[in-house]
Amino acid sequence: MQVEVRGITKCFGAVRANDNISFTVPSSSIEGILGENGAGKSTLMKILSGFYSSDSGDIILDGEKVTIDDPADAIRQGIGMLHQDPLDFPPFKVIDDFILGKKGGLIPNRRAAIREFNELATRFDFSIDPESYVDTLTVGERQQLEILRLLWLGSRVLILDEPTTGISLPQKEKLFATLKKLASEGMTVLFVSHKLEDVEALCNRATVLRQGRLVGTVEPPFDTKVLVEMMFGKEIPQEPKTQLRMGTTVLHAKHVELEGIRIQIKNIDLRVRAGEVIGVAGMEGSGQILFLSACAGLAQPVKGSICLDEDEKDMTGKTYHEFRKKGVVYLPAARLEQALIPGLSLTEHFILSEGMKGLFIDRKKSEELAKSRISLFNIKGRPDSPVESLSGGNQQRALLALMRDPLKLILIEHPTRGLDVESTIYIWGKLKERCARGTAIVFISSDLHEILKYSDRVLVFFAGRVTPPLRASTLTVERLGRLIGGKDWDSIETEVSHA
Ligand SMILES: Nc1ncnc2c1ncn2[C@@H]1O[C@H](COP(=O)(O)OP(=O)(O)OP(=O)(O)O)[C@@H](O)[C@H]1O
Ligand SMILES: [Mg+2]
Repeated sequence: MQVEVRGITKCFGAVRANDNISFTVPSSSIEGILGENGAGKSTLMKILSGFYSSDSGDIILDGEKVTIDDPADAIRQGIGMLHQDPLDFPPFKVIDDFILGKKGGLIPNRRAAIREFNELATRFDFSIDPESYVDTLTVGERQQLEILRLLWLGSRVLILDEPTTGISLPQKEKLFATLKKLASEGMTVLFVSHKLEDVEALCNRATVLRQGRLVGTVEPPFDTKVLVEMMFGKEIPQEPKTQLRMGTTVLHAKHVELEGIRIQIKNIDLRVRAGEVIGVAGMEGSGQILFLSACAGLAQPVKGSICLDEDEKDMTGKTYHEFRKKGVVYLPAARLEQALIPGLSLTEHFILSEGMKGLFIDRKKSEELAKSRISLFNIKGRPDSPVESLSGGNQQRALLALMRDPLKLILIEHPTRGLDVESTIYIWGKLKERCARGTAIVFISSDLHEILKYSDRVLVFFAGRVTPPLRASTLTVERLGRLIGGKDWDSIETEVSHA
C-alpha cells in the first residue's frame, strides 16, 4: 500500500513536534525514518497509526485521503505499529496476546487461532510456543509475536519504531530478513531508527527529520557523511580551545561496569580533572544517565569502583548524600520532577538548599538571599514566585543559583535543553566560571554542537559500549554523529591501542 503524508503538523504546547511534513512511501519498500532525539519521528508514526491526531495535514493511502480515528481504526485500514516501548501484556499467554485486538464480535476460536499462529510463525521461521507466557520471551521474540499479530490483523503497512534497541544480533538479522521478505510480498515498511548501519543494511530509501521538519529523502548508495549532516546539521568551525587543564583528580571511575533495565555497560574508565568539562554523547537510553548516576552514588556499579579526589578515596556503594558532602552534585533533566519542588517559592528553595541553622527560619534574611541570587543569576521571577511558574530557562538559572559554592564536580543532564540562545550562553558562562575556579563538569547532551563547543573531552555511548575519552579538539560533528550511529568503533580501538 502506498502511504503519503501531506503537510502534517502537530504541536505539543509550544513544541512543534511535526512541522508541515510531506512525503510518499511506495508499496513493496522499506523506508528508513532517521533523525536525532526529539526530531519528531515517533510523533509522526503515532499520527499514522492513530495514536495521535494531527493538528493539520492529510494521510493518503493508495491515493485516497483517509481519516484515522484510533489505533484500531488504523489496523482496519491496514496500518500496524510496533512501538518503541512494547505494548504487550506480559501476564498473558502468547496465544491470548495474539488474539487480543481481533475485532468482529466473536471471540476467535482458540484452536483455529493457534493453527494460524503456527502457520504464520513457520512462514517466517520464528519458533515461539503459543502456549508459553509472554514474560518468558526475549525482547526479540516479543517483537516477532507483535509482527505476527499485526500481520494476522491484516496490516499492509508496518511501522517499527527503533526496533533494534535491546535485541541480539541474530535476532536483528532475523528481523531484517523478515522485513525484506514482507516488502517483497507487497508490504510497506516504515523503519524508524537512528542507527545508520541498520538503515543502510535494510532500507530502500531514507527520510530524515530534524527539529520537527523534513530535511530530505535520500536513496542508496547511502553516503554516511550526507546522512549525518542531514540529521545533526552542518559543521560549524570550532573556536580554538585553551590548553587542556591538567588539574588534580576529582573523580576516577575505574573499570566500571553497570547494569540497567535494558542495558549493560562494561569497562568505563575515566579520570576527571579539576576544571575540565567532559561531554557525554549518545542517543538517549544508551546508558549515559546510568553512568552519571553512578558517579554521584545514585546508582551502584556491578563491578569496578568510583573514587573521589587526588587520594582516590573509594566511594563505591556510598549514597548520594555522602557524595554531596564531598562536593558532588547531580542536576537531572527533569527539573520540576526531580530537582525543584513545585509549590515552593524561590525563597523557600534557598532556605532548603542553604540548610539554614537554628530553630526558626529567618524569613527576612532568606528573602534577602533570594533577592541577591535572583539578581546575580538574572532570574526572571520574584522571591515569592513558585518555581513551576518560571519558564524553563529561568528554572535552569534557579537550579544553578541553588548550587553550593565551591563544588568539586557537577554532573548535569542536558544543561540547556529547551532554552533559547541567550539563556544557553548565560548558563554556560556561569558553568565555565565555576570551572575556572576548579570545578569539573560532566554533562550529557544530545546537541552535538554543544558537546563540541564546551567539552575538553568527550565520551560516546552506543548500545552498551563507551569510547575512551576523546579530545574534543580532534572531533567534528560528522565523526561524533557516526560514532553515535554506531559507525567507526573499530578505528577507535586501534587508535587507542596505538596511543
Ligand atoms: N506526548 C507529548 N507531550 C508533549 N511533548 C511531546 C509529546 N510527545 C513528543 N513530544 C515532544 O515532541 C518532540 C518530538 O518528539 P518525538 O518523540 O516525536 O521525537 P523522536 O524523533 O521520536 O525522538 P527519539 O529519538 O528520542 O525517540 C520532542 O520535543 C518531544 O519532547
Ligand atoms: Mg521516538
